[in-house]
Amino acid sequence: MTERTLVLLKPDAIERGLAGEIIRRIEDRGFAIVAMDLRALTREFATKHYEEHVGRDYFEPLIEFMTSGPIVAMVIEGPEVIRAWRAMQGATNPFEAAPGTIRADFATSNRLNLTHGSDTAESAAREIALFFPNLK
Ligand code: CDP
Ligand code: MG
Repeated sequence: MTERTLVLLKPDAIERGLAGEIIRRIEDRGFAIVAMDLRALTREFATKHYEEHVGRDYFEPLIEFMTSGPIVAMVIEGPEVIRAWRAMQGATNPFEAAPGTIRADFATSNRLNLTHGSDTAESAAREIALFFPNLK
């Protein structure tokens, strides 16, 4: 089924010049980029995005990280893209991620792990509406 997901290139991806490499993988896979924007997140906005993680021990450092520099937010579209993009990212912890995934190939820690992808259709809808309220 054709669906959409929210992708974030986190501050480490932009800082390290990996945006092109990651976008290349999305294009090579045949997914369509239907929205894309470079922006800085406020604490309030990052907290809304990661609201399900409020109260976790890593929450504060995660928000610090996500507001430490610009990010690229994207909406990508294609068959089974929610699951497929999470498979392309690999596991949260890059040292557990399968070889050939973005996180296994480039990420350095389970916080600085380069990308975000919505985990369900419900979170994709919520996150896309948060980042791109005018997207049709
Ligand atoms: O991004 P993903 O869905 O794979 O992981 P998550 O469990 O939803 O966690 C969201 C984000 O929090 C991760 O991508 C990491 O950047 C961060 N995190 C962290 O800093 N420390 C942890 N122990 C777990 C996650
Ligand atoms: Mg998640």
